[in-house]
Amino acid sequence: MTRLIFLGPPGAGKGTQAQTLAAHLNIPHISTGEILRQAMKEQTPLGIKAQSYVNSGELVPDQLVQDLVQERLNQSDAKSGWILDGFPRKVTQAAFLEELLEKIYQSGERVVNLDAPDEVVVARLLARGRKDDSEEVIRRRLEVYRAETAPLIDYYRDRQRLLNVNGNQSQEEVTSELHQVIAS
Ligand code: AP5
Repeated sequence: MTRLIFLGPPGAGKGTQAQTLAAHLNIPHISTGEILRQAMKEQTPLGIKAQSYVNSGELVPDQLVQDLVQERLNQSDAKSGWILDGFPRKVTQAAFLEELLEKIYQSGERVVNLDAPDEVVVARLLARGRKDDSEEVIRRRLEVYRAETAPLIDYYRDRQRLLNVNGNQSQEEVTSELHQVIAS
């Protein structure tokens, strides 16, 4: 059963690669960012609570995302595997996930660390132009990534779960490297 976490700075290509791989493996692609954006669009209670954080590049409070991940992982399509994209994003979220998953599975999930330099990801995101893709908000998302999320690289390396993939190459090359590392 494939259970993967995608880690990496904004614009590294997590969503692009996770979506393709999930379709290839016939498992759900669970993106916390996408779930939050959909909730914001529909103005659900979750969306209303999350919007000021998402639009300014800050992390949404742990409890909100942890509840949504727990609920999503309990759905029937997630019983045969999944790709989590954008969660965990903090050591506290990783500890929550570990506790949640060890009740269900015996072996640990693997973590794809997709990386690319700041100037490359900034250029990609400015070209895309999502609501949180203004230069100011992108810079803030990168700061938050460095302060809160990058420590997860050591966290998962120490647990021997980390797979590194170079995100600074064409999408096809990233896909090919990704397939190689997850097969290894
Ligand atoms: P989220 O949606 O997860 O945003 P992000 O991590 O900033 O990631 P992006 O979607 O910007 O980048 P990506 O790496 O997925 O790249 P993509 O494939 O899209 O989170 C948004 C917000 O939600 C957060 O800021 C926070 O507020 C909140 N949130 C989410 N999860 C949370 C959590 N766990 N805790 C608290 N808050 C949370 O690609 C980007 C662009 O580059 C695309 O245009 C793509 O076509 C292009 N591209 C991709 N790969 C390549 C390539 N190899 N070469 C050239 N172009 C490429």
